[in-house]
Amino acid sequence: MSHTFDDLWSELLPIGRFGGTGGYRRFSWTAADAEARAWFTEAAERRGLDVRGDRNGNLWAWWGEPGPDAVVTGSHLDSVPDGGAFDGPLGVVSALAAVDELKRRGVAPRRPFAVGVFVEEEGARFGVPCLGSRLLTGVTAPERARALTDGDGVTWARAMEAAGLDPERIGPDPEVVGRIGVFLELHVEQGRALVHRDTPIGVAEAIWPHGRWRLDFAGQADHAGTTRLADRNDPMLPFAETVLAARASAQRLDAVATVGKVRVSPNGANAIPSRVRAWLDARAPDEATLRAMVDEIESAARRSSGGNGVTLASYQESLTPVVDFERGLRDQVAALAGGAPALPTGAGHDAGVFSAVAPAAMLFVRNPTGVSHAPEEWAEPADCHAGVAALADTLTDLLTR
Ligand code: GLV
Ligand code: MN
Ligand code: MN
Ligand code: MN
Repeated sequence: MSHTFDDLWSELLPIGRFGGTGGYRRFSWTAADAEARAWFTEAAERRGLDVRGDRNGNLWAWWGEPGPDAVVTGSHLDSVPDGGAFDGPLGVVSALAAVDELKRRGVAPRRPFAVGVFVEEEGARFGVPCLGSRLLTGVTAPERARALTDGDGVTWARAMEAAGLDPERIGPDPEVVGRIGVFLELHVEQGRALVHRDTPIGVAEAIWPHGRWRLDFAGQADHAGTTRLADRNDPMLPFAETVLAARASAQRLDAVATVGKVRVSPNGANAIPSRVRAWLDARAPDEATLRAMVDEIESAARRSSGGNGVTLASYQESLTPVVDFERGLRDQVAALAGGAPALPTGAGHDAGVFSAVAPAAMLFVRNPTGVSHAPEEWAEPADCHAGVAALADTLTDLLTR
């Protein structure tokens, strides 16, 4: 089993790797994404699976005929900018390795079974995370998705079309969704809880509610040398105060808030900026706390904008409600994984989106660095193999009962 995992892993590893940082730039509908999707299709077909794309570009590799009450496992192949190798791909490679293990065990599935790959999970290119699963389940409207733009102003519709898919067909698909009887996602852990517990495998208990907000600060560009301080409308100042307010608010509320992306226009060292566009990522243990925190941060941004002669416009780009994974399935998966501990997480996943339409569960694999969304993300081979074994045990149980 470990052998097929290792082979699959080394096939996928070079795709989309960025030499400058050692991290990955696998963004939806780019050449690296196409290469990763082709790799998956080929690897699944080599295993006798029947690969079909749905109308939103998600890939489904079926073992036998598609049908209702299916067991589905999978994850994503896209990455954040300079992301790690494991976030997403570990779940896809483990699913294919688990297929090999089921065959080795002679498991004959008594219900339909598919491995899935879901598009734009990170929202790195178009801003809305889990867009493939959201479109499929009807959480995001197709008109909105088609109009989303990347940093160069290319729309989702144009990018999808350039990748050879028809953007007019995107949207909810009750037939495809209706097949999902249970959804499983294996994922690298994105913190150090399993390191602290000295155990290789965990299961997901809950996902914190989270969202992204875009803040547009507009001022007046001017000369850095000749404009008196009193005459400035500098959008960098309320931006900076907002970053600090986000930190203070998150600290006070035991939540997290991050400004990880910013665009400064015109971005010249000797000019006061005309515009600062910043993205706030906010996450909290419950929805009331999340709302309170974002309100606080937006108020601080507004106050500081007013005091600096700057105008502020803010937009909610996405909001993901709290996910409490179904207790029965979670306990079943944890027991099959040798009494794996249940962990809450602040990271979003397609399994969270699918938990609204079917029982869903997640397996986490220990990450010794605890770092994620960065090249230092890691999982030891032995722990990856333990993850595949736990996934194969769970699948065997679900497919043969
Ligand atoms: C996805 O990885 C997220 O940002 O939660
Ligand atoms: Mn992920
Ligand atoms: Mn991620
Ligand atoms: Mn000059």
